[in-house]
Amino acid sequence: MRTRLTGIVAILSLALALPVFAASDGAALYKAKCASCHGADGAGQTAVGKSMKLRDLRSAEVQKQTDLELTKIISGGKGKMPPFGKTMSSGDIAAVIAHLRTLK
Ligand code: HEC
Repeated sequence: MRTRLTGIVAILSLALALPVFAASDGAALYKAKCASCHGADGAGQTAVGKSMKLRDLRSAEVQKQTDLELTKIISGGKGKMPPFGKTMSSGDIAAVIAHLRTLK
C-alpha cells in the first residue's frame, strides 16, 4: 500500500514537473514551423507567402483576433494553411501566439 502510494505520488509529481521542463519556446517554434510561409517577421513576404497572398500577421486584422480564434486557426488550419493541432501541444500553440503578439 505504501509503495503504491509512493508510486502514485511519483507519477503525479512527474506529470506536474514535465510542463516546466517542456516549456515551449514560441520564437523557436515560429521559426521552425511558421516562418517558411509567414516570414521571420510575420509579413508573409516569402515566395510561398506571396503566392498564397498571406495577410501580414502583424496587421490589425490579424492581431485583433483573440487568442482563442488564433488557436483555432493554428490547430485546425485555414484554407491552404496546414493544421498544427496534431504536431504542436496546446502549450506550443500558446507560446507561438505569445510570440505573434510581440511581432506587431
Ligand atoms: C504552408 C504554409 C503555412 C505555414 C507553414 C503556416 N501558415 Fe499560417 N497561414 C497560411 C495561409 C495560406 C493562411 C491564410 C489562410 C486563409 O485565410 O485562407 C494562413 C493564415 C494564418 C493565420 C490567420 C491570419 C489571418 O488571415 O487572419 C495565422 C494566425 C497563422 N496563419 C499563423 C501561423 C502559425 C502560428 C504557423 C506556425 C505554427 C503557421 N501559420 C504556419 C500558410 C501557412
